[in-house]
Amino acid sequence: MTRRFEGKVVLVTGAASGQGAVEARLFAAEGATVVAADVAVEAGEALVADLSAAGRRAEFALLDVADEHQWEAVVADIEARHRRLDVLVNNAGVGDGRGIVDLSLTGWDRVLGIDLWGPVVGMRTVAPLMARGGGGSIVNISSIAGLTGYDHAAYTASKWALRGVTKTAASEFAEHGIRVNSVHPGAIMTPMVAGMPQEAIDSFVRLNANRRVGTPHEVAWAVLHLASDESSFTTGAELVIDGGFVPAGAGRALELASATAKEGA
Ligand SMILES: NC(=O)c1ccc[n+]([C@@H]2O[C@H](COP(=O)([O-])OP(=O)(O)OC[C@H]3O[C@@H](n4cnc5c(N)ncnc54)[C@H](O)[C@@H]3O)[C@@H](O)[C@H]2O)c1
Repeated sequence: MTRRFEGKVVLVTGAASGQGAVEARLFAAEGATVVAADVAVEAGEALVADLSAAGRRAEFALLDVADEHQWEAVVADIEARHRRLDVLVNNAGVGDGRGIVDLSLTGWDRVLGIDLWGPVVGMRTVAPLMARGGGGSIVNISSIAGLTGYDHAAYTASKWALRGVTKTAASEFAEHGIRVNSVHPGAIMTPMVAGMPQEAIDSFVRLNANRRVGTPHEVAWAVLHLASDESSFTTGAELVIDGGFVPAGAGRALELASATAKEGA
């Protein structure tokens, strides 16, 4: 059976860790040539070495997504060596735990530079190459913070905005055969979440309809679906992968509050 991404070239940002690393592995297993881009050189090169040892096609690219010149260099290199780019997963992201009153302009600029400007300049840079190849698919990793009033202000702003510009890009690039969709993970057990206080992780578990956090694979399989021709009529859409946190979280909070009230009565 032909693998789903045989002959395709896939660029994943933030591929050295967490969800990006799992996505790189799954794309490679499905036959893609994966360009694993990250600022974390050692971990990125280790991933690529591991994939190559397993007979997969993968290469590492040093890319700080906030830097448009680095984007231009990486995409020019992909064009020179592969002549095409079929998929971009804008996965790189950083968190910042501050609310509005604690924000600094430096912190704000850092988060929006990586989490918002990064994907935007990425889309802008890859679109001409994708268009020359007849089209492609871009998957932007937003968050449930892009659907709610999450208490991390800069992160929330960037993820809401990424959700919006995904729809702008879907409209702008449609004539070139490029689809653009956003994915909104809930709490997923990666180094980003593992670094949170245990009480915050426990709250996610308590309020989640599924009563657990998700795995990187549970996001990655959905990313592959949106990247593949299986989703050829899907563009400008948002796919929430949160175990029911957004739809059921408020109901769960009420349920828990009334159970606590009954216990105390
Ligand atoms: N883990 C979660 O619960 C969760 C929930 C919702 C959304 N997300 C989003 O999913 C994406 C992946 O997160 P993760 O949980 O796998 O995190 P992670 O911290 O494990 O991985 C993030 C990767 O991005 C890389 N990175 C950071 N800054 C970069 C930059 N400037 N340029 C290139 N690479 C950079 C890091 O080196 C790292 O390899 C992020 O966009 C994150 O906001 C995560």
